[in-house]
Amino acid sequence: MFQKAHDSLLRWYGLYGRKDLPWRNLVGENAAYGVYVSEIMLQQTRVNVVLDYFYRFMQKFPTFKDLSLAKEDEVLVLWRGLGYYSRAKNLLKSAQDTRGNLPNTFAELKALSGIGDYTAGAILCFGYHQAVGFYDTNIKRFLVRYFGLQSFNHKILKEYAEKFLNFQNPFDHNQALLDLGALVCTAKSPKCYICPLNNTCKGREDPLSFVLHKKIEYENLVLRFGIYQERGGVAMFRDKKWNNLYSFPEILVSTEEYLGSVRHTRTKYKIQAEVYKITTMPKDTELIRDFEDLPMSSLGLKILKLINRIKK
Ligand code: ADE
Repeated sequence: MFQKAHDSLLRWYGLYGRKDLPWRNLVGENAAYGVYVSEIMLQQTRVNVVLDYFYRFMQKFPTFKDLSLAKEDEVLVLWRGLGYYSRAKNLLKSAQDTRGNLPNTFAELKALSGIGDYTAGAILCFGYHQAVGFYDTNIKRFLVRYFGLQSFNHKILKEYAEKFLNFQNPFDHNQALLDLGALVCTAKSPKCYICPLNNTCKGREDPLSFVLHKKIEYENLVLRFGIYQERGGVAMFRDKKWNNLYSFPEILVSTEEYLGSVRHTRTKYKIQAEVYKITTMPKDTELIRDFEDLPMSSLGLKILKLINRIKK
């Protein structure tokens, strides 16, 4: 039914697709695990940022079994700076819960922590080479435009993803759709003039008219952090508010020196973090000297960079 569209899409993918991405070239019995790690990292995070993290993670934990034996802090350190740390905790929990055996059915995958419909579908298709249709925000945007959907829900989108699936080559088809959504059928400036599917796309006339999701209403938040330094160490603590990662203590006001500020976005908050020097060590903090293997929050890392810059 979609033979021509499928061929066009795959031809385009052959020419312009990101076929060299490491998680698209995994072979052997750990391939599905690698796909799983990559798909979790790619949630909310751009490909370019993920690459380094992915290599380091796979080097340290080459198999799901290896991961199942890891300590949580080891995993969090590898995740440092990627944000959304519950992703790392869930990945570890899945490894522990399955004793390092990654299942290959939709129902079993969905039962694991942090795996939703999209990730389960991606693991089955990209990791186990099964013919399944699924969608993430990129594929959803494509489907809604291509089929001109004015109203839709999860069930409808899943049906369209399955209806449009190319059973001859589901792996490349789905990877191509991810690329098409990321590179051509983009949210703000879709490039219909170079799209391989433009002659059959129902949304081509007015691609921006399709409303896909609610805009996030950000709230501005000012937080103040205190930097206490003594004998080459800096006072930090594991802050429950920051996923139990090492962070700097918050202070109300400081009459001490203002060191600078950093910006950070977390969930719906746009945070302005003001950093001050303080002269008494806040209670329940410890002096940290070695940051190399410390599981830290992303904001904590930014603050650390700021104070290192000042020290130099
Ligand atoms: N984003 C989510 N999954 C992806 C994949 N497999 N390749 C590139 N970007 C992605």
